[in-house]
Amino acid sequence: CGIVGYVGGQSAQDVVVAGLKRLEYRGYDSAGIAVLADGGLAAAKKAGKLVNLEKALGEHPLPAGTAGIGHTRWATHGGPTDANAHPHLDNAGHVAVVHNGIIENFAALRTELGERGHDLLSETDTETVAHLLAEAYSQSGEPAEAMRQVCRRLEGAFTLVAVFADAPDVVVGARRNSPLVVGLGDDESFLASDVAAFIEHTRSAIELGQDQVVELRRDGVLVTGFDGRPAEVREYHVDWDASAAEKGGYASFMLKEIAEQPKAVTDTLLGRIDPEGTLHLDEVRITRGELREVDKVVIVACGTAYHAGMIAKYAIEHWTRIPCETELASEFRYRDPILDPHTLVVAISQSGETMDTLMALRHAREQGAKVLAICNTNGSTIPRESDAVLYTHAGPEVAVASTKAFLTQLVACYLVALYLGQVRGTKWGDEIRTVIRQLSEISGSVERVLETMEPVRELARSLASHDTVLFLGRHVGFPVALEGALKLKELAYMHAEGFAAGELKHGPIALIEDGVPVVVVVPSPAGRSVLHGKIVSNIQEIRARGARTVVIAEEGDEEVVPYADHLIRIPATPTLLQPLVATVPLQVFACELATARGNEVDQPRNLAKSVTVE
Ligand code: G6P
Repeated sequence: CGIVGYVGGQSAQDVVVAGLKRLEYRGYDSAGIAVLADGGLAAAKKAGKLVNLEKALGEHPLPAGTAGIGHTRWATHGGPTDANAHPHLDNAGHVAVVHNGIIENFAALRTELGERGHDLLSETDTETVAHLLAEAYSQSGEPAEAMRQVCRRLEGAFTLVAVFADAPDVVVGARRNSPLVVGLGDDESFLASDVAAFIEHTRSAIELGQDQVVELRRDGVLVTGFDGRPAEVREYHVDWDASAAEKGGYASFMLKEIAEQPKAVTDTLLGRIDPEGTLHLDEVRITRGELREVDKVVIVACGTAYHAGMIAKYAIEHWTRIPCETELASEFRYRDPILDPHTLVVAISQSGETMDTLMALRHAREQGAKVLAICNTNGSTIPRESDAVLYTHAGPEVAVASTKAFLTQLVACYLVALYLGQVRGTKWGDEIRTVIRQLSEISGSVERVLETMEPVRELARSLASHDTVLFLGRHVGFPVALEGALKLKELAYMHAEGFAAGELKHGPIALIEDGVPVVVVVPSPAGRSVLHGKIVSNIQEIRARGARTVVIAEEGDEEVVPYADHLIRIPATPTLLQPLVATVPLQVFACELATARGNEVDQPRNLAKSVTVE
């Protein structure tokens, strides 16, 4: 969910709604706003995307107010209805609150409130907070104190922002787990889940720490711990280019972000490879000595980042000979994994906020493992809680389905693998130097793929009415197949599944019938004739059973030609790096197919870009 708070001289409704627009990527099931005006509280909320709320406000604007809060929701407790949308108010309408997270003891709190005569109207956990705040405020008469008292009673993850009818110039916020950033303006102050919400007003920011409460006034802020003790704050300057989060002439953010991939890859390599082909990752604050002692690598991540992690496993084990496992962050800590100080845990996350990944890394650190984050968002929670971080430089990714962040995650994974190999010295020393050089030239290949995508788009449009698309790959092509299927599920809402090509005969081949499109990611023919030959056999096997084959193969690979109903060419690339080019046509394919089906690609149904609940 995305949260905004404002106090200052501008129209609170305008500032809050503009901020919500910038945060819609965090959830778009419903949206709402409350402003302090005319000595009272006025609120509006609507199910569906933010435009619905904007329309409602256009017809019935809230009274002019100079303090307000807003929320854009990704539903957890209770469906995406008007009633369940935030803000939530107490029965008297004296307090309004918005919330990101899950309050785990809400059922007990609800019962308790019911016994004290409160009448709860929605199915949400958040509404209990509005009632508790109203009670606490009626005792202390101080917004921040009321917030602190309530926070001490809540269990789970929560970021809250509230306003009180009796305190017209104050907004209070509280943070446990999901982020909350303060923006300090000239006689105005802001609060938001992400600086994007207020960057057009100020670049002066303070990141709220874990278990802190902030009292926001026009002329400044006061930060305390949940226990009431004043907290130390560090103001920083946001140096991000606000235009990077605009569509810049593209029909969607996703198209823009796909097109930005060559630059994202180059930027992620920048300054990390010297002209001699040696890697410099001094920013990774784990000593060379510690890296030499590592005897196991565990990668944790979710969604697309997990697929980057699967590819990293092949690279790490090959170049470093250190055993490596990649695991879904949500599964990791619940199976009591074996970790010790010689384990290096790599947590991959575009947002740096995904709760499953955060919980996995906390568990890893509790067991004494070292954690290295690969992250695209500066200063977010996952890098802050890790021992070290290697940032990807994809720039802000707005479309919910990840594209450029994925490619840069791959680059970062290769850098980690090659660096471990370089630091430890393996028999692959020469190969490592060669690959570092090849990696530094790879963005040109990504660029070439992008220039030849028209036939892929045409093919996507022609398949728009199909129900199923299958994806096959082997070795690093297997995670690529999974990623191709995930993109199609996310965007086109189709049944799309990726398989390891070798597994085909053990089950999935039963799915093949006349006309089913099957996308096959073919490994490079050079030097790996065994794998290449086996996949060419697989293509023949599915074709014999009626599949319509869409073959992604390197330029110069003639063997596949007779069996390809559609052939998509990618530049010849070293085996382990091939995912950097092979994924791109699959992104374009999914984006175009979804568009042809009339879907909105930047905000697919039911999803959110940052999932800050477990
Ligand atoms: C959400 C997004 C996915 C993303 C995953 C992990 O589910 O919809 O696109 O891959 O989270 O996100 P992260 O920010 O941790 O990379």
